[in-house]
Amino acid sequence: MKYYWLIFLGFLVACGGQEKEVISKTLPLVPKPQEVTVYKGEHSLNKTIPFYADEGFELASHFLSEYLQNSGFTLQENREDDAQFIVKKDSLLPEEGYTLSISEAFIVLKANDAAGAFYGMQTLRQLLPASLEKMNSFPHPTTTLPLVEIKDFPKFSYRGMHLDVVRHFYDKEFVKKYISYLSLLKMNRFHWHLTDDQGWRIEIKKYPELTTHAAYREETLIGHYSDTPHQFDGQRYGGYYTQEDIKEVVAYAAKMNVTIIPEIEMPGHAQAAISAYPELGCTGEPIPVATKWGVFEDIFCPNEKTFAFLEDVLTEVVALFPGEYIHIGGDEAPKAHWESCPHCQQLIEKEGLKDAHELQSYFITRMEAFLNSKGKQIIGWDEILEGGLAPNATVMSWRGTEGGIAAAKQQHEVIMTPGTHCYFDHYQSKDPNEPVAIGGFTPLEKVYAFNPIPSELSEAASQYILGAQANVWTEYITSEDHVEYMVFPRILALSEVDWTGPTNNFETDYDYFRERLQLFTERMDALQIKYAPHLGKDVKEAP
Ligand code: ACM
Ligand code: ZN
Repeated sequence: MKYYWLIFLGFLVACGGQEKEVISKTLPLVPKPQEVTVYKGEHSLNKTIPFYADEGFELASHFLSEYLQNSGFTLQENREDDAQFIVKKDSLLPEEGYTLSISEAFIVLKANDAAGAFYGMQTLRQLLPASLEKMNSFPHPTTTLPLVEIKDFPKFSYRGMHLDVVRHFYDKEFVKKYISYLSLLKMNRFHWHLTDDQGWRIEIKKYPELTTHAAYREETLIGHYSDTPHQFDGQRYGGYYTQEDIKEVVAYAAKMNVTIIPEIEMPGHAQAAISAYPELGCTGEPIPVATKWGVFEDIFCPNEKTFAFLEDVLTEVVALFPGEYIHIGGDEAPKAHWESCPHCQQLIEKEGLKDAHELQSYFITRMEAFLNSKGKQIIGWDEILEGGLAPNATVMSWRGTEGGIAAAKQQHEVIMTPGTHCYFDHYQSKDPNEPVAIGGFTPLEKVYAFNPIPSELSEAASQYILGAQANVWTEYITSEDHVEYMVFPRILALSEVDWTGPTNNFETDYDYFRERLQLFTERMDALQIKYAPHLGKDVKEAP
């Protein structure tokens, strides 16, 4: 009897000791996980998948359940012992990180937090056939997954995309779709540019003229700004989100693990609001909602009416958006009116300020104190450095990385979004048939080569760089398809900078990225994303 036991034991050891065969295979994963090993073989999915998840992973489970339902799979809740797909807590894993282990018999996803499990599901999604992205697709009788061991976590905590819904308006359904693209690529911040000179796009109950009046402009510039004389289309244009719309988008974003950062611009880019309420400006004169692009001199006057207005507006905004941050703008505020406004000059004197730049700092600092009192932190464009940073402000560096460097050295948090690498309203190719863009040249390889951490910063100061974001200003982007064209495929490169981390071997990494991008087009096609055909070219050195 003993003898048989020994043989049996020997058999087990032999099986256990048998190495799984590692194979070389490019998986269509973007952003690239930190570590991937692919093994020979596959995991077959049944239409009903016995599933178990530890408590706290409902976000991930709901996502997967809805995603798979769409194509006829069912997750069937089970005891852990009987499950084929298991989601487990592992408190040793880093924030937002996960491990995904797919063997012939089991899928095991481990994470330390809800976000990590959610991102593990996004990786699993990218391992499934792209055809499952199609609504009401049906599972192929043999839907399989590759056998993998993946260990993954993000380099940066802030992985963002911006959308300007003022210069051209995009409705809530498109905004939700845009947010779904972010989550597919493990991006977690959506910066929603809601107010500007050419329109006000968020309902504020206390100030109805913001939506009845400021949400619409009389007409819009035709062609490029540099084409003179300026011509206009003669068409009234506008739109806005009701607070119910906003709640719907916020709830959707939560399901996609995306935090929305609403931007309410001040003191500049405020012409639409001043058009509705002229007492908010220095002159008190009526002005129209802007009909062309650029930087305008009608900015908020820092008088008590303006502060009361902005506090009321922000009180409603804060109630709608659960995230930590409110973006207060701060860019491109010409000081001409402040220089000639008696109130502004008196205020400078009274507060012992040196000049109009310090008045802007006073303005932002006062709004920061208000928002901090509501439990929120502010983000501002890098002009908020001028005249002195508000004590707790995070800086969004857009005029290059210099503002970000200065802020990090002052121990302020920074989001990098320099025009050189992160402006997706710029041209992405030299093709003369490109749709008209604002200018600039930011091809895929340039985005891919971006390093959010400038070499000037010490290791300690680098900790203040939260991550990178791309901005999508829509002066020249007039349709949903056109937004997708400008965003894809460059967003894939940015997602990899933010998640995987900046490349330190451009030639090899960029080649491998393009190889995966080529595979990823199948998923973009299934999602009906209208990506640009500029899928990268051979580039040997980081641009
Ligand atoms: C900006 O592009 N004006 C922030
Ligand atoms: Zn004034």
